[in-house]
Amino acid sequence: MRKRLHEAAARVIDSGAYIKGPEVKIFESNMAKWMGVESVCGTACGTSALWAAMKGLGVKPGGEVITTVHTAIATAEAATLCGATPVFCDLEPGYFFLSAREAEKNITPKTQALVPVHLYGQPAALDEFLELGRKYGIPVIEDCAQAQGARYKGKYVGTQSDAATFSFFPSKNLGGFGDGGAFTAKDPAKMKWMKMFSNHGRSQKYEHEFEGINSRLDTLQAALLDVCLPHLDEWNQSRRRVALWYDEAFADVPQVTIPGVLPETEPVYHVYVILVPDRDGLQEFLSNRQIETGIHYPMSLNLQPAYRYLNQGPGSFPRAEYACEHMLSLPMHPALTQEEVHRVVAAVKEFLAR
Ligand SMILES: Cc1ncc(COP(=O)(O)O)c(C=O)c1O
Repeated sequence: MRKRLHEAAARVIDSGAYIKGPEVKIFESNMAKWMGVESVCGTACGTSALWAAMKGLGVKPGGEVITTVHTAIATAEAATLCGATPVFCDLEPGYFFLSAREAEKNITPKTQALVPVHLYGQPAALDEFLELGRKYGIPVIEDCAQAQGARYKGKYVGTQSDAATFSFFPSKNLGGFGDGGAFTAKDPAKMKWMKMFSNHGRSQKYEHEFEGINSRLDTLQAALLDVCLPHLDEWNQSRRRVALWYDEAFADVPQVTIPGVLPETEPVYHVYVILVPDRDGLQEFLSNRQIETGIHYPMSLNLQPAYRYLNQGPGSFPRAEYACEHMLSLPMHPALTQEEVHRVVAAVKEFLAR
């Protein structure tokens, strides 16, 4: 693997084709084949992929985009970049993803997109969003940044909605060696527009149909990602195995709430999140034992200074706010061994027993 990555990097460096080199098309085509979709377009990052998807699907100034209040800011930022307003909704009870019922309550004549996020690699209740999309004539865009390779009713996330976006940020399940992202869209005309938007609205060299942005996937990233892509399913399978070890070990620990998984879904555990009463105490305890943990995220978006203008103070989204105060991401990567997981679990149990 290491050798193939070095070879791929050397090939691109020697070629001199750093922007739109042949490796970009090769990777896009391999990712599309792997997903079972017509076409994939690489982008500079997941944020700009969301921007292109929202704009391509008709999100405009004055519009509203419904999404979860518990996500990376990028999901909401893309709505704002289109001139629209993000409309935040709370989580589905028992899960970490957007509640379709809350989403439906917030649909107005201004709603221009529904954006479920498959947070932590857990597929959201996609059918419910597709049903809402059909009922109200609103496009559904899946934010798959944290869930590449997860399956919903047997199909990869990102294959059943109007558009889907991905991130190759290094820590993602298919992580690159810098920034990168991708999108796909069902309608070929919209896909074509989104591709052009991501490359300065360019129809051919020195000809621009409209103004777009510079959001191209680097040739170097594409070449490296193409080396990694064939391993993604196997890495995700390893993450599921690690998650199962955690699940089993915490099954008889009432203070630990483990992630809810919808039936007929295969999550990919971008992170493994538990809810505990004293999260900060546990994090410090684990840190003292050299066990590194994370918090995704310490603050729901309504409480971020960037969204103060929405006037949705503490208590506006009780389930998301509770998650932010009580969640802890335990070590999770495909190479974790059962012994390492048991060491983490033993430390968590030791803390809880004090
Ligand atoms: C849910 C979600 N959406 C979008 C993004 C944005 O991706 P990127 O960092 O590649 O712009 C991320 C990455 O942090 C994410 O986690």
